[in-house]
Amino acid sequence: MTEGIHGERTASELQDRVTELIEQQAAISEVLRAIANSPHDLRPIFDAILDSATRLCRADIGCLHLSEEGGLRLVAIRGDPLLVGRVRSSLPVLAEKGSPLDRLVTGRLPIHIPDFAALEGDNAGVRTGLIVPLLKDKETVGMIALGRKRVQPFTDRHICLFSDFATQATIALESTRRERQYREMQSELAHANRVATMGQLTASIAHEVNQPITAAVTYALAARRFLSAGPPNFREADDALSLIVKEGNRAGEVVGRIRALVKRVPARRDAVAIDDAILEVIALTRAEAANNSVSVRTQFAEGLPRVRGDRVQLQQVMLNLIVNAIQAMKGVGEGARELQISIDAVPSEGGVRVGVQDTGPGLNPESLSRLFEPFYTTKPEGMGMGLSICRSIIEAHAGRLWATACEPRGALFEFTIPAD
Ligand SMILES: Nc1ncnc2c1ncn2[C@@H]1O[C@H](COP(=O)(O)OP(=O)(O)O)[C@@H](O)[C@H]1O
Ligand SMILES: [Mg+2]
Repeated sequence: MTEGIHGERTASELQDRVTELIEQQAAISEVLRAIANSPHDLRPIFDAILDSATRLCRADIGCLHLSEEGGLRLVAIRGDPLLVGRVRSSLPVLAEKGSPLDRLVTGRLPIHIPDFAALEGDNAGVRTGLIVPLLKDKETVGMIALGRKRVQPFTDRHICLFSDFATQATIALESTRRERQYREMQSELAHANRVATMGQLTASIAHEVNQPITAAVTYALAARRFLSAGPPNFREADDALSLIVKEGNRAGEVVGRIRALVKRVPARRDAVAIDDAILEVIALTRAEAANNSVSVRTQFAEGLPRVRGDRVQLQQVMLNLIVNAIQAMKGVGEGARELQISIDAVPSEGGVRVGVQDTGPGLNPESLSRLFEPFYTTKPEGMGMGLSICRSIIEAHAGRLWATACEPRGALFEFTIPAD
């Protein structure tokens, strides 16, 4: 008989355990879903962690703190609205290092406060509390605090369940945070490279801006002549004025294009006319090519599809490839210095292929294998970041970038980009 009773209790306990595990699984799935759905913003992820945690432990309120240099920062608070209001106004946004709240998590173990009345101080309407430190490699990265508005201690089971959930949530959160930090760093690096490359082109850029201004001045002088003629030729003067307006607008456009390349903006996914984008880069580098006796030829296929991506980033790739080609040809003593830029549609790859070919010294096996490594450079003042950034930009566009040594000399860099 006792066997039977014992057996039944075990079965219902098991049933409860299974239910709890399913709830725990659902809670962590919700966090993972929030991570997948929120590529840029961490807030929905914090909220999902707290919503799941409060539901899992039948708590009325949850707070999430993350560690930073100065202490613990309150990043999210969820639950019963009245309680949330009271707790928010009583908790500091940053609990400084060494403050009571900060010290709570230094022990790295969950802290259960069955009844706040036993402790001194304002508890903002929370009667029972549970604080679980978030640990990564034994280091505290934050904490989650749960509260109930009635005195109702958390069971050992709930504490255990919650600690497990917190461990999994921490892993998910930390890898997301790290990945985002990495992406942020990459984008900063890409921006720095763009600004540095533009810096190498100041003479060329100045020339590009100067051209319309010089033209406008010429037209202005002509207008003055037409007006001071006897009799004044108003018609010709008016034509000249129209041309001045046109050149003024052109100068504005050039400056706008340069600004776009230098400004730091979040990545975009647009339909890009790759040929126009590349023509602008060729215009920016024209004087640089001419100063180094490099002739530039283009061979663009007709009716190219638009590609999907970030116009400025794709221009950055071209800028780097063209500047590299010009720099490579600087060193060659004799022979024509030719830069050929081609764009073809490649339906087999579902997009376009861009080629940048020079008649420089070309690529030996050693550099062929190392070109795309960060910091690989053979130039006294090189950074060696250009090609590595180009490759990560192209790969982020789901394309490929590669290099080929040409016969009898020169290098060919090609990349593909999927069509929109
Ligand atoms: N068109 C090219 N012809 C020959 N070598 C090249 C060419 N483009 C790049 N390289 C080689 O690849 C190296 C890395 O290029 P990159 O990543 O742009 O950095 P950096 O231009 O600062 O050296 C260059 O230092 C050079 O040795
Ligand atoms: Mg370079």
